[in-house]
Amino acid sequence: MKLQDKVAIVTGGGRGLGRSIALAFGKEGARVVLAARTKKEIKHVAEELRALKRDVIAVKTDVTVEEDVANLVEKTLQKYGAIDILINNAGERGHIGPVCELSVERWDYILRVNLTSAFICSKAVLPVMMENRYGKIINIATTTTPRPNLTPYMVAKAGLVHFTKQLAREMKDFNIQVNAIHPGVMDTRMQKEIRKAGADAIGTDMFERMKEEGILKSPDEPAQLVLFLASRVADGITGRFLSFDDTEVKFLVSQP
Ligand SMILES: NC(=O)c1ccc[n+]([C@@H]2O[C@H](COP(=O)([O-])OP(=O)(O)OC[C@H]3O[C@@H](n4cnc5c(N)ncnc54)[C@H](OP(=O)(O)O)[C@@H]3O)[C@@H](O)[C@H]2O)c1
Repeated sequence: MKLQDKVAIVTGGGRGLGRSIALAFGKEGARVVLAARTKKEIKHVAEELRALKRDVIAVKTDVTVEEDVANLVEKTLQKYGAIDILINNAGERGHIGPVCELSVERWDYILRVNLTSAFICSKAVLPVMMENRYGKIINIATTTTPRPNLTPYMVAKAGLVHFTKQLAREMKDFNIQVNAIHPGVMDTRMQKEIRKAGADAIGTDMFERMKEEGILKSPDEPAQLVLFLASRVADGITGRFLSFDDTEVKFLVSQP
């Protein structure tokens, strides 16, 4: 098993990509800690994992709130006594519209959910990882290609990629690897909401391409890239931003 007995916190683990990562990790022997605001959803994923006889807890958490994240870390340590892996997956696309119509409050909020949250969660787990001289942090970013009318989200995710590189350098001597991925376009609730906004709002090229292709990928596919980065075969890979849309990356992940 690729993650036997590793303790992994997955933020946004209640649905979409977070759920797929949690299931992929559980199947590989990890002890999974699910964190999101909707208790019903994380409880449901926990039940799915328990049905597979996997070890899991669900902790209701808002990743933008430091006290919530401190509680998440405390509950994880109480139950498992370690934190080996952190997946900063929770995110919200937020406001769809032009910058000139965006309030400072919305801007701040979207940056907090998609970028500051990764700082809050990383800061909270780092003392444990540094003490153990072992850790893997994987940040879920997005494409760096500009997408009109999603500016604060795209800016936050670009910041997340640079945060990844900064933290990787800082943590190099502690055997803590920090990487970011672009999962590609996945058929999740977030994507449905973006499509609902229509071609004009999100950019005709992307909308048309998605319509033509007729399919969006299942989050189970990029979850395999996250599993790869979390496992020992990826030891030594740090400070990287990998896109699941790259053929080489898909090839790497498909290797047994
Ligand atoms: N879908 C795509 O095509 C796509 C493309 C590129 C990147 N991504 C990124 O992939 C990640 C997963 O997206 P998804 O498509 O799976 O979206 P999703 O289905 O909307 O799931 C988002 C998850 O994040 C959680 N979340 C949001 N705000 C939170 C908060 N403040 N505190 C704790 N949890 C929070 C949600 O739970 P609660 O609402 O219950 O808290 C939910 O579990 C996101 O970071 C997204 O930006 C997605």
